[in-house]
Amino acid sequence: MKNTPQQLHIPVLVDEVVRFLAPGKGDSYLDLTAGYGGHARAIIERTAAPDQATLVDRDENAISELNFQCGFTNGGTRLVHSDFLSAAKNLHDEGRRFDMILLDIGVSSPQLDRAERGFSFMNDGELDMRMDQATGRTAAEIVNRSSEKDLRDIIVQHGEESPKTAQKIAHAIRLNRPINTTGELAKTIEKVLPRTGKIHPATRTFQALRIVVNDELRQLEQTLPIAMELLNSGGRLVVVSFHSLEDRIVKRFMNEHAHVGFESELDLLTKKPITASSDELAYNPRARSAKLRAAVKK
Ligand SMILES: C[S@@+](CC[C@H](N)C(=O)[O-])C[C@H]1O[C@@H](n2cnc3c(N)ncnc32)[C@H](O)[C@@H]1O
Repeated sequence: MKNTPQQLHIPVLVDEVVRFLAPGKGDSYLDLTAGYGGHARAIIERTAAPDQATLVDRDENAISELNFQCGFTNGGTRLVHSDFLSAAKNLHDEGRRFDMILLDIGVSSPQLDRAERGFSFMNDGELDMRMDQATGRTAAEIVNRSSEKDLRDIIVQHGEESPKTAQKIAHAIRLNRPINTTGELAKTIEKVLPRTGKIHPATRTFQALRIVVNDELRQLEQTLPIAMELLNSGGRLVVVSFHSLEDRIVKRFMNEHAHVGFESELDLLTKKPITASSDELAYNPRARSAKLRAAVKK
C-alpha cells in the first residue's frame, strides 16, 4: 500500500472513524465507499490484515486509483467496482461476514472538482453527475426530459427547497431547455433566484439532481439492513453522511434496531451524531456537514 502521489481526497473524521470501528489485529473490514482509500489505509494499518479487507466504490476512477496508485491489491485486498447495494447483496450471498463496515457516503473531492464529472457549478462542465459513468441517466437527461411538475417534485423532495421556489426553478428550466452544462443550469437558476447569502441559489437543485441521478437514498435505505447482516456479532458499523436526508435515514435505522428491547440487534455507540472539530474544519472545510453515527452488533 502506497500513499497517493498527491492527496486527491481528504478523508473526514478519520480519528473518529478509527475510534468507533476499533480495528484489532487481523480484523476483517468492508469499506462500501472506499473512494481514494484514506479511511481504508488508516484501518488496514491497524489490522495489519490487508487480505481481510474489501473495498467497494461505484466510481471507476476511484477503483483504478486504489489499484494502481495506492497498490491496495498488492496486499491481497479485494477491490469491487459496484454500487454498494449490489456489492452488499453479493457479499451476503457469498456468506461473508465482517468485523467492521464503513459507509462514508456522498461525493469525493475529485468528483466535485473535475469539471467533466458535472457535479458542481463551480467548474463548468457537461451536466453528468453519475458516480458510475458507465450506467444510468445523466443529470442533463433528467433536466431536459422531465416534466415541469416532476422537476419541481425532485427539487422539493431531494433538494428540500420550498414548493414555491422549486416551482420557479422548474419553470425556468423548462423555458431554457436544452441545458447541457453545469454553468448553464446555475445561470438559469440564478436568473430567477438572485444570490442573497453565501450559498449559491443553485446549491439545493444540484443536490437534488445528484441524489436522483445516483439513486442515493434508496441505495442507503436498502443497504443498511444488509450491512447489519454482514456484521459478525460484536462487529462495528460506522456511517458518515453529508446531508439531512441521508442522516435521517441512518438515524431512523439505527434507532429502530437499537430500541426494540430483548430483540434489539444493535447497541448505539453515538447518541448524537459526531461532527468535525474546528481543527479539522480549518484544513478540510468539506467536513463541515459530515455527521457520523456508529453502532455495534449484539
Ligand atoms: C466521501 S467519498 C469516500 C472517501 C473515502 N472514505 C476516502 O477515505 O477516500 C464517497 C465515495 O463513495 C462513493 N459512493 C457513493 N455512493 C455510492 C454507492 N451507492 N455505491 C458505491 N459507491 C458509492 C463515491 O463514488 C465516492 O467515491
